[in-house]
Amino acid sequence: MTMRVGVLASGSGSNFSALVDALNVSGSPARVEVLLCNVPGARAVQRAQAAGVAVELVDHRPFGKDRAAYDAAIVEALRKHQVELVCLAGFMRLVGETLLSAFPSRVLNIHPALLPSFPGMHAPRQAVEYGVKVSGVTVHFVDEGTDTGPVIAQTAVPVMEGDDEAALAARILVEEHRLYPQVVRAIAEGRVKATGRKVSVTAR
Ligand code: GRF
Repeated sequence: MTMRVGVLASGSGSNFSALVDALNVSGSPARVEVLLCNVPGARAVQRAQAAGVAVELVDHRPFGKDRAAYDAAIVEALRKHQVELVCLAGFMRLVGETLLSAFPSRVLNIHPALLPSFPGMHAPRQAVEYGVKVSGVTVHFVDEGTDTGPVIAQTAVPVMEGDDEAALAARILVEEHRLYPQVVRAIAEGRVKATGRKVSVTAR
């Protein structure tokens, strides 16, 4: 049985593409079935169309401040594609209880820092400004906080002398593209077990 994955993105979609490239191949335990995007015209949408992956555009604007109704619309769109695992990848909206309870322990996010350092929108910039020597990538389960859910996997990335935000973000992105598909595969193969905040991933 192949696990059906939905990816939520708002922007460039390079993680979406990395997931498709790694997973949508024969013999894979998981497959990206749909891109859900809230921004018409986003590069992620073009990437999905080029890859032949279904697109659901669910614009948040008509929903105003009604987050639960927006979440419900996302759930409905994902259900249409029988999605079992939800991967946030540069999705610039907070997701809430309605989405999380529809996919219990099945919503992941990727963050460009070693959480709990530098949560939020500008992690690479904050790492450079703080002067840390090592930053990295975190893939975690999503809870109702911002970048606070249980950590599944992390990769360290060095911060080099003279790095600016863009240079560090680019170095981190390379590792994001490796780590995210590995985690999705591990989940699809039943190798990820969570007990409270402690998540164990067993080798294949
Ligand atoms: C990535 O750095 C990801 O960690 C963060 O948003 C960025 C999305 O990049 N959550 P892309 O759209 O996948 O290229």
